[in-house]
Amino acid sequence: MKTETGQTIRLDDYRPTDYAIETVRLDLKLDPKRTQVTSTLSLAARDGTRGGTPLTLDGDALTFVFAELDGKPLSPDDYVATPDAFTLKRPPEGLFELTIGTETNPEGNSALMGLFRSSGTYCTQCEPEGFRRITYFLDRPDVLSVYTTRLEGPKDQVPVLLSNGNPIEEGELADGHHYAVWHDPYPKPSYLFAAVAGNLAHISDTFVTASGRTVDLRIYVEPGKEDRCHWAMDSLKRSMRWDEVRFGREYDLDIFMIVAVSDFNMGAMENKGLNVFNDKYILADPTTATDTDYAGIESVIAHEYFHNWTGDRITCRDWFQLCLKEGLTVFRDQEFTSDERSRPVKRISDVRTLKAHQFPEDAGPLAHPVRPQSYREINNFYTATVYEKGAEIVRMLATRLGEDGFRAGMDLYFERHDGEAATIEDFLACFAEATDTDLDTMLLWYNQAGTPTVTATSSWDAGSSTFTLKLTQNTPSTPGQSEKAPMPIPIRFGLVGPNGDDMEVERIEGAEAAADVLLLSEHEQTVVFHGIGARPVPSLLRGFSAPVRLEADTDTADLLFLLAHDSDPFNRWNAAQTLAMDHLKRSTEAIRRGDTLAADPEFIKALETVATDTGLEPAYRALALQLPAESDVFREIATDVDPAAVSKARTTLKGEIGSALAGTMRDLYDTLQDDGPYHPDPESTGRRALSACALDYLVAGGTDGAEELAKTHFDTARNMTDRLAALSTLAMNRLPSAEPALEDYAKMFEGDALAMDKWLSMQAMIPQPDTLDRVRELMDHPAFSIANPNRVRALIGAFATGNATGFHRADGAGYHFIANIVIELDPKNPQVAARLLAAFRSWRSLEEGRRTLARQELERVAERADLSRDSSDIVSRMLG
Ligand code: ARG
Ligand code: ZN
Repeated sequence: MKTETGQTIRLDDYRPTDYAIETVRLDLKLDPKRTQVTSTLSLAARDGTRGGTPLTLDGDALTFVFAELDGKPLSPDDYVATPDAFTLKRPPEGLFELTIGTETNPEGNSALMGLFRSSGTYCTQCEPEGFRRITYFLDRPDVLSVYTTRLEGPKDQVPVLLSNGNPIEEGELADGHHYAVWHDPYPKPSYLFAAVAGNLAHISDTFVTASGRTVDLRIYVEPGKEDRCHWAMDSLKRSMRWDEVRFGREYDLDIFMIVAVSDFNMGAMENKGLNVFNDKYILADPTTATDTDYAGIESVIAHEYFHNWTGDRITCRDWFQLCLKEGLTVFRDQEFTSDERSRPVKRISDVRTLKAHQFPEDAGPLAHPVRPQSYREINNFYTATVYEKGAEIVRMLATRLGEDGFRAGMDLYFERHDGEAATIEDFLACFAEATDTDLDTMLLWYNQAGTPTVTATSSWDAGSSTFTLKLTQNTPSTPGQSEKAPMPIPIRFGLVGPNGDDMEVERIEGAEAAADVLLLSEHEQTVVFHGIGARPVPSLLRGFSAPVRLEADTDTADLLFLLAHDSDPFNRWNAAQTLAMDHLKRSTEAIRRGDTLAADPEFIKALETVATDTGLEPAYRALALQLPAESDVFREIATDVDPAAVSKARTTLKGEIGSALAGTMRDLYDTLQDDGPYHPDPESTGRRALSACALDYLVAGGTDGAEELAKTHFDTARNMTDRLAALSTLAMNRLPSAEPALEDYAKMFEGDALAMDKWLSMQAMIPQPDTLDRVRELMDHPAFSIANPNRVRALIGAFATGNATGFHRADGAGYHFIANIVIELDPKNPQVAARLLAAFRSWRSLEEGRRTLARQELERVAERADLSRDSSDIVSRMLG
């Protein structure tokens, strides 16, 4: 294998910089191929820095032009400038000003980091280390500076010139050029810098803050797309209000801007006062966006806005602390959605996401702690672990401390660390102090990788009226960490009595307990509940109170009981999932033996009861009807997995449920149709989701007339949610009407990139072996482009991560194809290539034949000369 590139950065090696950069004056003269950047930094040695210590600034592929010190040209003897660094050999004492000129080529920037162009718009992405691709800098989050940015360019090409903060000056120049100057009074790290310039239209609105200040709100898009920005604006205003009410956080500048661009590696970016978004998370109208898109926009808008306090006002000391802003901000956006929509539905969706993405990551070769100890490429740590598990840790704090205690800790955090670059220790200390709680062991959650397994065995003793719960916890070894200490695991619980109500508990022995939350803190604990006069069914980990795998001794009868009675909506849903999962695992084994296993009629009946219970909200009922995904079953089986058998087991179960409940599903479908105007509110969103689910079961069950019904649903749909749901049912079930419907769709939405992404994804996910040929053909379709990350994710990403049958083809052709794409993409956009490569992360769990084929492809990638640091880091950890 090729030797690994790039050095390892370690948390233990952290030390502050020798110099501070107090102010930055940036001057950008925009040109497609030769943008001139002049940066003037006012610098001073920090206390304790020895006089004359050389100053080295980070660079990345920069073209150096000139350097001046305090306004006078520097002699070449005084500095060393390479593409990757600038060193001032003998900095003067006291405050000094260093001016450096560089040149950059935005149009040639296919990695989309630093300054690039997206459909003609100049745009920046600096997190985590993109600023050094614009100019030399101490490009790390603990160097906070006040920025003044001047942008200049030809007015006809770049009529709009934006940067962080407030606008302070603008004017016309000779030759049709113009300029604008922006000043951001809040000291910030370089990763929060942004500049945007182009021919952009905008919608505007205002927001009056709690203290009565009026803020100008703007969303910028390509001209002609303004009408698709109103939902984003509405979401923004609701987010701003919510942060005031729930966390007492007000917006702090006179203007808040969002720009939507069509080429973007990630979802969005929280640059101070100037958020930059992937247009997928801004643009929506009923004909082109689904309910899921509307919900996604609302939560990403909220997430980026909430970063203004958790990320911008208080940032991270170093990138190891990434979860400090990301985990916390994900928690905040989850809470926002829970308050705006349905709390149980949101919790269930989030747990599904966590289990689908984070659990497999934590169980495979890419496992890492929420706060890693070392990295080679920080871009590879924007993961489900840092974001979603990071949010779960914050949620556990909230669970343990209660609403008031949690808020007191947050208040102290904002008060104490405003304007600083903080650490996880700083964060935890605020909660410990504000609530006088010992939270030292919470650090283990940040430092230890791997998903703990909690086992629970129970017994009831009639004589003493006691119920005994034996709990154990065990965290598996992960790369670089073999021994794990027991962690504090909050277990929200209820003991459900024979009548279905929660029983009163007199007293609890053997564990710290507050109200309905037990704290499991040892490897093994025996908890005794007193005053329990009848055998209860324990409902453990209510609301998924900790990110663990629970193995409880609840049998089928107990699970059916919980599914019917649990007062905790999460665990009611979870009971159905557990029953389905048990069946799918056993059915997969049967299929591998050449056998079959019929579904339990009791289970199907219980599903029917939930599906038709009009006392439950439709969105919840839709979730209850949704079977675990193939990838969920894959994860639960864990070793020697045969993806084809899993797929067959799932399709069979779905068909059985569909045909057993055909009448019910048809009634459900009929009662849910609605011809009022479209609105993405939670109520109608839920109704559409349940209707889609009923339709899908009708088709899967092979019910007479179901295909026609789906085709009509598609043809007569008046919004994208209904249209796409029907199309998906036709395509995933491989019905003859799928092909003409796909053609109709392509005609309807030709030229609309985001709508065509859905069309690409859907075809890439059709679960059959020859889908690979279709994906290859689609790469030549005008709707596809390898240069655009959204298109790559829609077609290639959907195939690699959303089509187990295709990707895991027994002959290895799926692996070969993805490896080829990675090799092709890597030199152009390493971040997108490395993400795609991570689709192999569970390769060791596969049955032997596929495992060998997958390894060969990984080795082929690893052997490439000139592999980016991003991809080489992923592939070497995956093979390591
Ligand atoms: N901070 C952004 C967010 O809100 C993500 C930016 C990640 N960018 C990257 N190039 N890795 O989640
Ligand atoms: Zn974020």
